[in-house]
Amino acid sequence: MGAIDLHARPSKDFDAKLAQTQQLLRRAAGEFAPVKQASSLGAEDVVITHLINSLGLDIPVFVLETGMLHDETLALLERTQAASRAPVEVYRPVNESVIQFVAREGKEAMYRSIELRKACCGIRKMEPLERALSGQKAWITGLRREQSNARADVPQVDTSDVKRVKLNPLADWTWGDVWHYIGAHGVDYNPLHDQFYPSIGCAACTRAISLGEDFRAGRWWWEDEAAKECGLHVKHEEKAAA
Ligand code: ADX
Repeated sequence: MGAIDLHARPSKDFDAKLAQTQQLLRRAAGEFAPVKQASSLGAEDVVITHLINSLGLDIPVFVLETGMLHDETLALLERTQAASRAPVEVYRPVNESVIQFVAREGKEAMYRSIELRKACCGIRKMEPLERALSGQKAWITGLRREQSNARADVPQVDTSDVKRVKLNPLADWTWGDVWHYIGAHGVDYNPLHDQFYPSIGCAACTRAISLGEDFRAGRWWWEDEAAKECGLHVKHEEKAAA
């Protein structure tokens, strides 16, 4: 059984949620421009890209291609570039930084300490993210409140970072809503979702989950729940405290 059959189950007020999401995306292209969508090519993000394309909005999509993505994710990236009306940009880490880090710390550094894991995220995701967002007034992400305790309060329009607004058009969508949309519109998605990978990051740092495990249990599974963010979505106050 695939992810659509397993999960597609719209909330009672799904139509109202969808209308609100569409309204926020239209606002994004207007009052928040220049704006881009950050896509990991996960289920939430393919829904947002599909909405951007079907509404005909001028919102480019970017993917941080960390050099450690699964083959399935890379194949979906290629298909998305071929099929999307909105431009799909790819940002990669600085080659030299990756080579030096791996030469110094080894290929399995991320498992040795949180500091090394975060240094790897820094080189492969955070630095390319800064380049992707340079000059942008806002960005769009697939964060949902249901994804984790740390995300339970995610607002649709997050203005806590003075540098730029973060828009989370699926903040109140459930996992059932996401798969309902994918099924209803025949949206292309990452086949890893059919193999019990609800949340997909770099290959070395993502595993499948088993029945009853949390949504993000397969991400950085050797670490404590509280540490499990790459830095893309650390709250502004927490960044300041660190
Ligand atoms: S994260 O910890 O890896 O950032 P998650 O995989 O849950 O968390 O992604 C949350 C959101 O961050 C995605 O919906 C997307 O907007 C953005 N994002 C995460 N990874 C990438 C990536 N590789 N490229 C672009 N955006 C990404």
